[in-house]
Amino acid sequence: MNKSGRFLTIISISLALLLLIIVRVELKTQAAPAGRAAALLLSNTARIANTRSRWLSQQPAQKEKTIGETQKNIKVLNDMPASQLIPMMNLMSGSLGVKCTFCHVNKDGQWDFPADDKPEKNTAREMIVMTLNINKATFKGNTDVSCFTCHRGSNRPVGVMPLPVPEPTARPAGVGPGAAGAAQPTADDILNKYTTAIGGQAAIDKLKTRTMKGTYTLANGANGTYEVTQTAPDRFYVARGSQQGLAEQGFNGSAGWNKDGRGVTDIRPDQLTDLKVEYQFFRDLRLKEQYTRVNLRRDKLDGRDVYVITGVRPDKKRERLYFDAETGLLRRRLGYIETPLGMLPDQTDYEDYREVDGVKVPFTVTVAVVGGFSTATRKFTEIKFNVPVDDSRFARPAVPAAKP
Ligand code: HEC
Ligand code: HEC
Repeated sequence: MNKSGRFLTIISISLALLLLIIVRVELKTQAAPAGRAAALLLSNTARIANTRSRWLSQQPAQKEKTIGETQKNIKVLNDMPASQLIPMMNLMSGSLGVKCTFCHVNKDGQWDFPADDKPEKNTAREMIVMTLNINKATFKGNTDVSCFTCHRGSNRPVGVMPLPVPEPTARPAGVGPGAAGAAQPTADDILNKYTTAIGGQAAIDKLKTRTMKGTYTLANGANGTYEVTQTAPDRFYVARGSQQGLAEQGFNGSAGWNKDGRGVTDIRPDQLTDLKVEYQFFRDLRLKEQYTRVNLRRDKLDGRDVYVITGVRPDKKRERLYFDAETGLLRRRLGYIETPLGMLPDQTDYEDYREVDGVKVPFTVTVAVVGGFSTATRKFTEIKFNVPVDDSRFARPAVPAAKP
């Protein structure tokens, strides 16, 4: 086998393994022990990573196999990149408010994804074709219409409006452009206010390392320990503990690795691209420099006034940042992952800001994504800046490689 042949084989095997993890986790959703849960957290990240990095790395995924090449019974998604399969399955499940079993066969705990026994699967194929056509014919090929546009979390979209039709209500005061009061701030003002609110540029610029210790809790109640060590600009070490043991990940500036009970493996390049964004040292500390274009509007979040900045990143990806109008602190970060069938949102909420070495940081962080355990809350008991961190923390552990 030549070099590129071998490379493709490795990619296919990793994708198959990833799928296996997802499927196993899906089976155990009801009573998942924390270890599975942690595995899912990782695989969730991986799934997002798959899509996100494709759009981050400007180059088209030329080397990537298509869904048609990697799966058994594909009739409409043939030409799309293999890494888009699971994000699209998550998008379809989430849009209809169903689990994988709505369209796929599961006999005594054994999945048969290629099987066409369920009529819903074929309906879904027709719907995929329709959705792609609508976007092509009417929306210049953008993904303006997704499954969610019609389905809104239900398998039966409602086509006739319910009565009585609600009376149009006036815009609540203080929301929207031209709201009461003095001159409106600009997006720049809000970003500067945030920098000041968390401690000021000088305090931020002094930061070089960070260690965080705490716990995570998934939506189904499973929980464990969560620990992060970072040095600027992008080295990280993450450890998730559960009853099953420790799952670790690290990046030493050039190579990334995973370690769990089965051994040590490399983090796939596409997944690493994503983790490097997630664990970038100044990700929530230096916001202004991350966007090429921004615009501003006012809104409410949980009853409080917020400024919402929509930022466009150099890779054209959009992000929404929600700042508390009073305190100036960042309360929500909403990202969009593009798939051929529509956008998959991923959301991070920040609460319980406390001052550490002159910089305010959130001690509660809630991450919500589509698929599997969609929500995880991390509560930190300790965050420290500028504690000396030895580079060996990020080095690949010297233990035997994982058994295949
Ligand atoms: C609304 C229906 C629907 C839901 C829900 C759904 N799928 Fe699918 N799935 C499909 C369709 C349709 C195809 C085949 C696409 C094609 O023919 O191009 C497919 C194909 C697949 C395949 C490829 C099978 C092969 O041919 O080898 C896998 C794997 C898969 N789905 C996994 C999942 C997982 C995991 C979930 C839950 C997260 C899920 N699907 C949820 C409709 C669905
Ligand atoms: C333009 C609106 C629209 C879009 C977009 C749309 N659907 Fe539908 N879908 C419908 C309507 C309407 C029905 C109900 C048809 C009926 O009641 O017979 C339906 C029914 C279905 C059903 C059958 C449900 C059942 O209980 O039998 C499936 C499965 C489905 N859609 C999947 C999808 C998927 C997957 C997508 C995205 C790829 C999608 N739909 C996008 C309008 C839409």
